Amino acid sequence: MKILSIESSCDETAAAVTENGRTVLSSVVATQVEEHKLYGGVVPEIASRRHCESINGVVSEALERADLSFNDLDAIAVTHAPGLIGALLVGVNFAKGLSLSTGLPLVPVHHLRSHIASNYIAFPELEPPFLCLVVSGGHSHIVEVKGYTDMKIIGRTRDDAAGEAFDKAARAMGMPYPGGVHLDKTAEGGDPDSFKLPHPRVDGSPYDFSFSGLKTAIINLIHNASQRGTELPIKDLSASFRKAVTDCLTENFMKAAENLGYNKAVLAGGVSANSLLRKRVAEECEKRNMKYYFPPLELCGDNAAMVGAQGYYEYLAGHIASTDLNAKPTMSIEYNP
Ligand code: KG4
Ligand code: ZN
Repeated sequence: MKILSIESSCDETAAAVTENGRTVLSSVVATQVEEHKLYGGVVPEIASRRHCESINGVVSEALERADLSFNDLDAIAVTHAPGLIGALLVGVNFAKGLSLSTGLPLVPVHHLRSHIASNYIAFPELEPPFLCLVVSGGHSHIVEVKGYTDMKIIGRTRDDAAGEAFDKAARAMGMPYPGGVHLDKTAEGGDPDSFKLPHPRVDGSPYDFSFSGLKTAIINLIHNASQRGTELPIKDLSASFRKAVTDCLTENFMKAAENLGYNKAVLAGGVSANSLLRKRVAEECEKRNMKYYFPPLELCGDNAAMVGAQGYYEYLAGHIASTDLNAKPTMSIEYNP
């Protein structure tokens, strides 16, 4: 079964053609990062406009690279939630137009479910059930993936998402948007024990996270140093911050896997590209004889191949949308259409 998939939830306009949820026939990503960098973060109105300009070319290129036409396709999948509403609407309306004009079924896909599905592309043997740490710019969840379309959140952030915390700390250290990847690189070779940063816990909720205090600690350290007219060693500060965030993520994730008896641990979302997080989760899984799966770096960030992968399983579950499909800025990964 061949699916044309579309992703436009944030600052990447992407289209892909995938087969049976596991094989990528083409994948095209047009990023807007350089433009948003000028403003230190994503400007929603600019994102929507750029999606409008790019989507036609990106979809055509995905079909061309796969050497296929609409007649060869079986369905159209599109990210409909969660994300920036104006950005999502571009992809959703484009997909609805294509579905109407070709008669192909329209499959709505939840953005975080698609991040999880990026692992199905890389690991053909991977099947639910497994425990997944979903860490992106907007979300930090520990999710029980009981089935391809059956998920339960057992841990979540109480304030900032992990990616957001990385981006805000990086910005405070003067790094360009999106800061997470710069902070990760800067941290290499730095001393992770040079700054004692808080490792916040949420009382009574052993799997929940809280990152805003950590971000504030970094901002205060930088502010106090500048008032004294001194500069902090950025490599050491980055390494300490990266360690604090990845310690919290890894500890809660492993605690949940142990308590609930999972033997497969999966990472998903933009922050799963973080080199220390990958290292720490791999080490902890090896200690516990657990299998672990991380998306390849090119599938960690937003792309449409992962939308096609999840779209395949949504289609099999009968999740087909009618032409009144709408985009939604927020929606739980647990939803059942
Ligand atoms: O999943 P994603 O591409 O978009 C959302 O759905 O939000 O995640 C983007 C987030 C950004 O906050 C970015 O800074 C972060 O992922 N990120 C990283 C790394 N690469 C991307 N954070 C830490 N270390 C990285 N290597
Ligand atoms: Zn994402």
